[in-house]
Amino acid sequence: MNRKRHQVVQRSRSERETLRTKGQFWTPDWVAEFMVAYALQDQPKRLLDPALGEGVFFRVAKRYAESHRFYLSLFGRDIDMNIVAQARQSGLNDNDLRNVEIRDFVLDPPTEQFPAIIANPPYIRHHRLSTLQKASLRDFARTAIGRHIDGRAGLHVYFLIRALQTLSPGGRLCYIVSADICEGVFAQPLWQWIASRNKFDAVITFSPEATPFPDMDTNVLVFCIQKEQPNKHFHWLKCRSQNAEELISFLSGNRHKQFKTLEIHHRSVDEAIKTGLSRPPTQTAADRYTLGDFASVMRGIVTGDIAFFFMTLKRARELGIPKSMLIKAVGRTRDIEGDLFCCEDVKRLEAKGRPTRLLNVNGLAFDQLPATVQAYLEEGASRGIDKKTLIRTRNPWYRVETRTIPPIMFAYLGRRNARFIRNCAGVVPLNCLLCVYPNHPNLEFVEHLWNILSHPETINNLRMVGKSYGGDAIKVEPRALERLPLPDHLVQTEGIEKYAKPKQCTLFD
Ligand SMILES: C[S@@+](CC[C@H](N)C(=O)[O-])C[C@H]1O[C@@H](n2cnc3c(N)ncnc32)[C@H](O)[C@@H]1O
Repeated sequence: MNRKRHQVVQRSRSERETLRTKGQFWTPDWVAEFMVAYALQDQPKRLLDPALGEGVFFRVAKRYAESHRFYLSLFGRDIDMNIVAQARQSGLNDNDLRNVEIRDFVLDPPTEQFPAIIANPPYIRHHRLSTLQKASLRDFARTAIGRHIDGRAGLHVYFLIRALQTLSPGGRLCYIVSADICEGVFAQPLWQWIASRNKFDAVITFSPEATPFPDMDTNVLVFCIQKEQPNKHFHWLKCRSQNAEELISFLSGNRHKQFKTLEIHHRSVDEAIKTGLSRPPTQTAADRYTLGDFASVMRGIVTGDIAFFFMTLKRARELGIPKSMLIKAVGRTRDIEGDLFCCEDVKRLEAKGRPTRLLNVNGLAFDQLPATVQAYLEEGASRGIDKKTLIRTRNPWYRVETRTIPPIMFAYLGRRNARFIRNCAGVVPLNCLLCVYPNHPNLEFVEHLWNILSHPETINNLRMVGKSYGGDAIKVEPRALERLPLPDHLVQTEGIEKYAKPKQCTLFD
């Protein structure tokens, strides 16, 4: 029984790994239906799917052309040699697949342009691309858009640039992609370039219950773009049900109908690019202050081997590690129940057998350490802990990062529960949390800042700076958290303006 279960887990793990390396996630039919309806609206003669996979777009496009009685030639690309056989199995015939080439779409592109392109590009993140691949992709992007694209862009970003280059004037592109394409550091220059040369018809986002890929921890959206004179406003939609009908109706021009499953915003392209195309429009005027005006943010401590460096007090006693070489720490967001973390909570964790002490022998030479600690470190080295990736770059290897105790911590990754935590326990967090350091140690100021940070309106603003993932989860990195807008009226009520860092003047102020 157990072995069986283990095999299932093993298979799904290796399947997941293959999916990640090849970027093979198949689009569900209901999504392909409205994407095809948009891309083929002008009844073009040719359609390109540059990342064919099992061929869902070909199948749906073929049906669409038949039912609308026009002749359509299908063109496709993929780099996987086995893909044609899989596409055949999914119901396509040799005639449908005759224009499919096994070639890299980005680095070995088609020589002709197409009036309709529809794509679900491979979702391959930058750390899965080889150094050589990355360098070629970056060169390509620099030549294509005349700007440098940050190295953290995944293959799907370069695919979009190539798809737009391959689109004929007046042509339509429908592109489903993960939201990081408009939330990453490279997003603004990329979208400004796109918006200066193309017309946005619609951007479609999905609420968690309507997500096209329920099994993937990714937030996706669909871009409907025409290679036409750029526009100043476009329609931004939130789809609340896995149903293509209303989307097809809207995209085919029914703009004044009442839609039950669609939330529709008419918004400015400039505002949307600034806010992030995956995020809803900002309703109010920009707030004056951000968290960075009152505090700085750092990630928590990375140990390199949590099981070795982080332990229960009981274990530390058994090992004979003196208290002076232990720092109170918190290692899991789940260990913090609410938004207040006190000494009682540390005791509660200890009672449950959760680690709460971080080994810290910094500043002492090995032979100055007690024999018990020396023995512990030697035992760790005998197990190869000193050779682990991050640890081997430290000198000596057992020297851990340090942090001043932050009065406020932040749980940066969560399903609707990214939150600030008031640290009354005097702990330092490991890297599951961020440290928030107010600019002034004044306790009264810290309390006022805390009141603002724990307010639902401020928490709501996290969407404006975080990266979105599946199931409505968001992740906020330290620099992004410093950009968190603090609602003006809260800053005023708490009276903390006087603590704000003076704004830097520019030449043009
Ligand atoms: C996310 S799947 C999408 C497949 C299909 N169009 C769909 O929507 O279900 C992306 C496909 O792109 C292929 N692929 C990966 N890298 C590629 C590249 N550089 N050029 C063309 N295709 C690529 C993968 O093998 C995979 O089949």
